[in-house]
Amino acid sequence: MFITFEGIEGTGKTTQITRLKQHMEDMGRQVLLTREPGGSRIGRELRRLLLTMESSDLTGETELFLYLADRAQHVREVIRPALEQNKVVISDRFADSTVAYQGYGRGIDPKLLHSFNQTAIGEYGPDLTILLDIEPEIGLKRAMMRNMREQKVREEGRFEAEALPFHKKVREGYLTLAMLHRSRIRVVDAAQSPDEVANAIAAVVDECMDK
Ligand code: TMP
Repeated sequence: MFITFEGIEGTGKTTQITRLKQHMEDMGRQVLLTREPGGSRIGRELRRLLLTMESSDLTGETELFLYLADRAQHVREVIRPALEQNKVVISDRFADSTVAYQGYGRGIDPKLLHSFNQTAIGEYGPDLTILLDIEPEIGLKRAMMRNMREQKVREEGRFEAEALPFHKKVREGYLTLAMLHRSRIRVVDAAQSPDEVANAIAAVVDECMDK
């Protein structure tokens, strides 16, 4: 089973992914946690280039193709082998991030992005996507505090530095995607307490596994 987590900055994805891993392991499943960008060795090099503040000269098209390159490598080197071993794969971001950020956020045609994503992914699309939804004002504040606490502002802060309207467009993009793919993408309110969010996610995942 392949589960992806999506959402704007500061929704608490990392905390919730760790909790879901525990939940699945309690049910006797082997779980592989991974992320984009940076799930493979090559991907980790791409992640540095993509997220550092030093990459202010990256063009929108270059950014897009680097995310797609990261994904193509990630699927073949990490995701596909784990799924073939019957593991549950949980990825912190995947193809919907490209449609939300490069499509709705930067203005590249989402239809084109679906087709590029298809080439990068092949048949290995997610069975379930948890979209953690929060007001961008709240999410951004949380993400900036985290980057300062972890001293990652320069190293990983390129998207947090985008203005609020960009993050609003990304959020709207995600909500549009959720409407278009109702059976795969499930929206969870990330403004609730971490326990409430974790319970909501566990309920959705359990329902999906019973099908
Ligand atoms: P994160 O791993 O801390 O969430 O940071 C990844 C950043 O990269 C985040 O701001 C979203 C952005 N991103 C894209 O713009 N497009 C993509 O396809 C992916 C996977 C991430």
